[in-house]
Amino acid sequence: MNGPDFVVVANRLPVDLVRSADGTQKWTQSPGGLVSALEPYLRARQGAWIGWPGVPDVEVDAFEEDGMLLQPVPLTSADVREYYEGFSNATLWPLYHDVVQRPVFDRAWWDSYVRVNQRFADQTAKVAGHGATVWIQDYQLQLVPSMLREMRPDLRIGFFLHIPFPPVELFMQMPWRAEIVRGLLGADLVGFHRPGGAQNFLWLARQLLNLDPTKAAVGVRSRPGWVLVDDRVVRVGAFPISIDSAGLDTLSRRPHVGRRATEVRESLGHPKVVMLGVDRLDYTKGIDLRLHALHELLQEGRVAPDDVAFLQLATPSRERVEHYQEMRADIERIVSRINGEFGRVGRPIVHYLHQSVNRQELAAFFRAADIMVVTPLRDGMNLVCKEYVACRHDQRGSLVLSEFAGAAAELTSAFLVNPHDLDGVKGALHAAITLDEAESRRRMRALRRQVLTHDVDRWARSFLEALGPPAHS
Ligand code: ADP
Ligand code: G6P
Repeated sequence: MNGPDFVVVANRLPVDLVRSADGTQKWTQSPGGLVSALEPYLRARQGAWIGWPGVPDVEVDAFEEDGMLLQPVPLTSADVREYYEGFSNATLWPLYHDVVQRPVFDRAWWDSYVRVNQRFADQTAKVAGHGATVWIQDYQLQLVPSMLREMRPDLRIGFFLHIPFPPVELFMQMPWRAEIVRGLLGADLVGFHRPGGAQNFLWLARQLLNLDPTKAAVGVRSRPGWVLVDDRVVRVGAFPISIDSAGLDTLSRRPHVGRRATEVRESLGHPKVVMLGVDRLDYTKGIDLRLHALHELLQEGRVAPDDVAFLQLATPSRERVEHYQEMRADIERIVSRINGEFGRVGRPIVHYLHQSVNRQELAAFFRAADIMVVTPLRDGMNLVCKEYVACRHDQRGSLVLSEFAGAAAELTSAFLVNPHDLDGVKGALHAAITLDEAESRRRMRALRRQVLTHDVDRWARSFLEALGPPAHS
């Protein structure tokens, strides 16, 4: 076999097929942090990427883009309903995000998850070269490591989870808990963002499968734990993901980005303070609660309506899943309430865009914003806060960041908040608004030191070094 020796497997390809009403088709960048992080890394390295093209019921041939082989895996409408919207996003997503919504345990969805995972494993087994390194990504594909090992024991298999791994008490709710742990243990290395996730997983390997994992504390990028599975050593470690920091820093320095940032502030009515939120429209992101905090600050007169504009971008996401529809309605209600009560003709307080924007526009928004507001109830890492910091070469701007985002462990010079504590969020927003410039610069310098020295390249290298060389070398 002489296929690629480096293969990424993810639910989505880095590009989505978009079909217009007139029948034309084009590819656009897929949403979410997984693709934002991995795509620039893989483009530089080359290899193959196996994933779904983002629309149901289409068969697309493999194709090459910038030296990367993209291998589509088709999903039918029923797969999308049961495996993607169902088990992945209405069972695993809420369960792994601290049950902020109630997970649905549906046996037909589980069966679909097993079938689709097998399809990804089959496709990978066909594509990967002998002894290749295969890197499987995220919660949608947790059974692929063991399915693939069964067919292709020659491969070096890594798995990385981009979302939080839950506390064991919550994971134990899962009816198919042993199957999932067994699925992941097909890998040679299982990676999480935080040591706590790795430790939870090791505990479950003992509890559910009677294995004998290590008990020592797992380090960040070092001292992985391990467990023996059928004479194979499976390592389990923590590898906090990051962004293409230098690329964004360079983009944000471009003169047209600076000009656009000035224009954006003008269009917002030249307020004293521009606040910004950038998220997929997801109920884990706490978009509603940051708006409630702003609303109360306005009601209490602690913030004057003429002084502030809040720009909230919310990429459409998983729109057929009920909790997402409810969250969208809640957000839109509070946006119109704030504008109704405190806006003036031609001067709303909240500017809400339910759409995604391109990288340059996003960099301009980051540069235009005095305060970046990132308040998830739970987030594996959260890349948006790191992107904001990477774009602030002027060392201005403040970051208000939830303690429950993985990034909080690294970005300790942010205003860290408990998103469940509305008064605390209001206090942090108010402190950021009234912060003096010297302190603001001090904080931003410290944040930039962290983000610029810990980029996505370092993340990928640390994971792949821990995974070891390809099996054939
Ligand atoms: P998640 O992976 O849960 O969506 P992250 O914060 O880790 O959250 O990653 C989100 C990615 O999507 C970031 O790279 C961010 O810049 C991008 N993004 C989010 N919202 C938008 C938007 N409205 N327009 C363009 N990009 C967006
Ligand atoms: C998060 C997940 C990714 C997912 C992305 C976008 O980043 O960790 O696996 O691809 O959100 O979500 P979607 O459901 O649109 O792929």
